[in-house]
Amino acid sequence: MIDSTGNTVSTGLNVNSIRADFPILQRKIHGQNLVYLDNAATTQKPNQVIKSLTDYYEQTNANVHRGVHTLSIEATDGYELARSKVADFINAPRSEEIIWTRNTSESLNLVAATWAENNVVAGDNIVITAMEHHSNIVPWQQLAFKKGAELRYFAHNSDGIIDLEHAMTVIDERTKILSVTHMSNVLGTVNPISELAGRAHDVGAVIMVDAAQSVPHMPVDVQDLDADFLAFSAHKMLGPTGIGVLWGKVSLLEDMPPYMFGGDMILEVTYEDANWNDLPYKFEAGTPNIADAFGTGAAVDYLSRLGMKNVWRHEQDLTAYAMERILSLDTVKILGPKDPSMRGGVISFIHDSIHPHDLGTALDQQGIAIRTGHHCAMPLVRSYDVVAAARASFYIYNTKSEVDALVNGISETEGYFNR
Ligand SMILES: Cc1ncc(COP(=O)(O)O)c(C=O)c1O
Repeated sequence: MIDSTGNTVSTGLNVNSIRADFPILQRKIHGQNLVYLDNAATTQKPNQVIKSLTDYYEQTNANVHRGVHTLSIEATDGYELARSKVADFINAPRSEEIIWTRNTSESLNLVAATWAENNVVAGDNIVITAMEHHSNIVPWQQLAFKKGAELRYFAHNSDGIIDLEHAMTVIDERTKILSVTHMSNVLGTVNPISELAGRAHDVGAVIMVDAAQSVPHMPVDVQDLDADFLAFSAHKMLGPTGIGVLWGKVSLLEDMPPYMFGGDMILEVTYEDANWNDLPYKFEAGTPNIADAFGTGAAVDYLSRLGMKNVWRHEQDLTAYAMERILSLDTVKILGPKDPSMRGGVISFIHDSIHPHDLGTALDQQGIAIRTGHHCAMPLVRSYDVVAAARASFYIYNTKSEVDALVNGISETEGYFNR
């Protein structure tokens, strides 16, 4: 629905006023208005986040947890406040369960190198889906090689919907950890985490959730999901690059060895030995990414103000519209669930005669940014008998007229290649 001032209001988001917060959306690319549809890779940043970074460096900059001077105390307070904002955002029971990392990849690696290193032995298995990002495949492959464990995959159907029955049989009493994407960055599929968590817990395994594509786009409640670990990146949810989150249940985190050693993560050091600080600092060796924690706090504030239910509704509305418009071309096949209500705002597609890289380059000439390639999910993309796909992915500032620009852009590219 469009109100009298032309704003989209039907999904609870005022997209025009949101767009005004994003300076980059004023940019021209090759003389055209920027249409940014590469949000699954990284999102743009609003003034509020950019300002939180400059404010931090102009007014607060100091190291944390070490000083008695005012700037250090303010830096520490802001850094810890951002942690508690993140905890509230995902309904974590305790703020010390939030570990700052560099990104989702580091959070996944941390669990593989600590919890799994300590708990997986030869003959055990680790279970993942066949639709994972490389970040949720390679750490488990390496761990399985090292331990003599088996890495198992469970299947999905041609629409990209997980075969729960198969999953229930693949997960067995030798499963130690199940690590699953909440939402596929290629197919858009939203996976049934609570059901999988139930099965994992029944066999005594833990479940790790790769929430890189869910936390930015939908309400995520770690307690409702019944997850044990959950990972996401700030840069995919309006925040800065270089900072991410690992959430874990306190009982698991407490038993895990540190990931890195150095300052801040110790309680006491002698020439002979050392012991470890309390959570979350045991996992945060060295000077952390303080400025970007402030920026992440500002991103969480921005999204909380919009309301994650509204964000999700807006993206579902846009996705349903985009699928209908893209499929009207007849030359394009969309990967993933046919039913838009079963997916998030990620649409990967394959043109029947134009290579995704050619399409992406031609669209760029029209100011339209999409992603092309294997999307860091080579095994999945290859399972569709292609080596690359094009992908449009949406966020809070995207509009139906931008979807129209994409579809017109594809048509124009067809005209160019068929000349
Ligand atoms: C589902 C999924 N998992 C993990 C990652 C890795 O995120 P990062 O590069 O921020 O570590 C991505 C990034 O695209 C992703 O989409």
